[in-house]
Amino acid sequence: MSQLESLREAARVSPDNIPLQMLFGEACLNEFAADEALGAFQHVLRLNPSHPEARIGLARALHHTGRTSEAVVRLEALVAERPELSAAWLHLSRFLMAEGLRDQARTCYEKSLVLPGGLPDAALEQELYLRGGAEKPSADSSRLGRVTSEGWETPVDSGDSGFPSGSPGDGFDAVEQPDLSFEDIGGMEPVKEEIRMKIIYPLKNPDLFRAYGKKAGGGVLLYGPPGCGKTLISRATAGEIEANFLSIGIHQILELYIGESEKNLHKLFELARDNAPAILFFDEVDALAADRRDLRKSAGRTLINQFLAEMDGNVASNDGLLILGATNAPWHIDPAFRRPGRFDRILFVPPPDEGAREAIISILAKGKPVSQLDARALAQKTRDFSGADLKAIFDTAVERSLAQAMKQGQVVPITQRDLIEVAKSIRPSTQAWFESAKNYALYSNQGGFYNDVLAFLGIKK
Ligand SMILES: Nc1ncnc2c1ncn2[C@@H]1O[C@H](COP(=O)(O)OP(=O)(O)OP(=O)(O)O)[C@@H](O)[C@H]1O
Ligand SMILES: [Mg+2]
Repeated sequence: MSQLESLREAARVSPDNIPLQMLFGEACLNEFAADEALGAFQHVLRLNPSHPEARIGLARALHHTGRTSEAVVRLEALVAERPELSAAWLHLSRFLMAEGLRDQARTCYEKSLVLPGGLPDAALEQELYLRGGAEKPSADSSRLGRVTSEGWETPVDSGDSGFPSGSPGDGFDAVEQPDLSFEDIGGMEPVKEEIRMKIIYPLKNPDLFRAYGKKAGGGVLLYGPPGCGKTLISRATAGEIEANFLSIGIHQILELYIGESEKNLHKLFELARDNAPAILFFDEVDALAADRRDLRKSAGRTLINQFLAEMDGNVASNDGLLILGATNAPWHIDPAFRRPGRFDRILFVPPPDEGAREAIISILAKGKPVSQLDARALAQKTRDFSGADLKAIFDTAVERSLAQAMKQGQVVPITQRDLIEVAKSIRPSTQAWFESAKNYALYSNQGGFYNDVLAFLGIKK
């Protein structure tokens, strides 16, 4: 059965499963089954009328069936309600352009770019600017400003390097030597062991590896629910082997300069090579491949190709360079990333089990005025909590205790009861992730990619 067929079957059997229906609608769009896509998104909207992705999906399906002006009307309504949705602005721009409304399309495109998650689209840009003779924003996209939670932020002049401060220009300050080790991380034994086998030993014994015809290096991709230690363990890996650590969010690369992303990416790899042994850490790698079908002809595609060429070592030798990637959305990652020599090793980072939570709780309590901590008892009461959720318990408890201490003029210890009470007010965050992951694992498990997720959920393959 093709992927579309199995999704169609699954969607039919589970009509109320919104993530699955979305997946099915998306698959229909990709296979140009526009009418079916239309039906799938309409169905989701009957279940949840405000579902933004379904509203965008519906507009795309309408456009595919030739009803572009209706798609425009619907997206205009959506961006009026939800102006923070970059994808809505981008599609609106495409449809306006298709309707011949270039000026409006341009405005929408520029809005989409400065929002979080906004990605350049070279093909659209060409239509919007070059032929129209208008100034393309690529010379300095940062002048457009950025949207923050507080509203629009006026851009600051980033100087001549072409990089805003803190990014890979001459004064790139992102090279660090973390003084964090595996001891600072609670639990995660299987992941630590895999990292030792796949990263640490090969780097320490390259000759031994070569003798077996294996190459040290390459990439390891960590995936799993948010807040479960992917970023933390990446930094600790660098600490363990005393390597330099360079971390960059893909969004940062994409945001820097439209059309310059490839150059920026190359500079970043060069910087890491100059600082070898080094770990180059790409957070949110999925952003590179987000919505890649839409990006097929666009800037995203060339950026991906640049990334792959850099990873393959086609551009320069990657000796002593380890590439780690992390993502919450492995389903958005282009399969090309997973070929040998690229992210060929993939590790699932699950939520901490009870023992791991106990260890994390003990680590979090260090250096805080906690009296009579019973880490095990708290661990038992925090099922499905991520490491970040556990940290939130301590942060809140510290705040409360501090507020009291201010009033009383002395330290007020945090008690076990305080911690348990705070824990009750925090909703564990990992379950939502598994709701999506489960659908992919069940219906889109090519090459057994999600076997670890299935095993974690206790589902037989
Ligand atoms: N195993 C752990 N031991 C100690 N602290 C942990 C652990 N896991 C998570 N934490 C705490 O939770 C915070 C968030 O973890 P981290 O940023 O590594 O998660 P992540 O998996 O990268 O999440 P995201 O997918 O959202 O980026 C850490 O800064 C740390 O305080
Ligand atoms: Mg992270």
